Amino acid sequence: MPSTEFAREALAQKLKRRIKQMLGPQGVFLEGFLRHPVMVGSVIPSSRFTINRVLAPVDWDNCRLFVEYGPGVGTFCRPILDRLRRDGQLIVIDTNPDFIDYLRRTITDSRFIAVNGSAADVEDIVLAHGHERADYVLSGLPFSTLPDGVGPAIAAATHRVLRRGGAFLVYQFTPRARAFMARHFRRIDSGLEWINVPPCFLYWGWKDEDAG
Ligand SMILES: C[S@@+](CC[C@H](N)C(=O)[O-])C[C@H]1O[C@@H](n2cnc3c(N)ncnc32)[C@H](O)[C@@H]1O
Repeated sequence: MPSTEFAREALAQKLKRRIKQMLGPQGVFLEGFLRHPVMVGSVIPSSRFTINRVLAPVDWDNCRLFVEYGPGVGTFCRPILDRLRRDGQLIVIDTNPDFIDYLRRTITDSRFIAVNGSAADVEDIVLAHGHERADYVLSGLPFSTLPDGVGPAIAAATHRVLRRGGAFLVYQFTPRARAFMARHFRRIDSGLEWINVPPCFLYWGWKDEDAG
């Protein structure tokens, strides 16, 4: 590479690093979106209004294992850890290795486990970490753009991995996830959060006490 081209490339890399540092987690998230727009499905992380509303019905005293799909740069992770009991555990699962690497570097809480993998494998992941069931599962997955069959497989695996009385909490920019959830969850509460970019649909699917 000629030296002027080499210098230009080095300057571009430096500038990119500087912008990423200035943007903090948002920069990591934006880069993840630019690399994998379909899998990430959003440019801006969820708002605190969305976070508070989605987590509001959780019974934290009785939550030992909380699982999150698609944590991105950890927008929900810190609020979950703030509410989680001392002997609880938060397992997050994301297909993007850069996000998982970022989370492992920035969240040092001993209750936190970040797994690079697919939400479709939640049962194996939960078992591998010494649990039979999860109390709550949260999803920020872009259900409408997931490859064919993945959304229904994730909804089915989530219903199986939840304990009776537990819940599947979902936030989404389209109402698509509800159809996948409805095949397994008889009771689904729903809402819409306007203070989010863009506004998003919220669903809470409850696993009945008499469910299999
Ligand atoms: C909309 S972003 C989530 C944003 C973040 N949770 C927030 O609140 O701002 C969707 C995330 O799902 C991840 N993802 C996509 N498909 C997945 C799958 N099958 N299993 C786990 N994570 C997946 C993406 O890598 C991305 O981090």
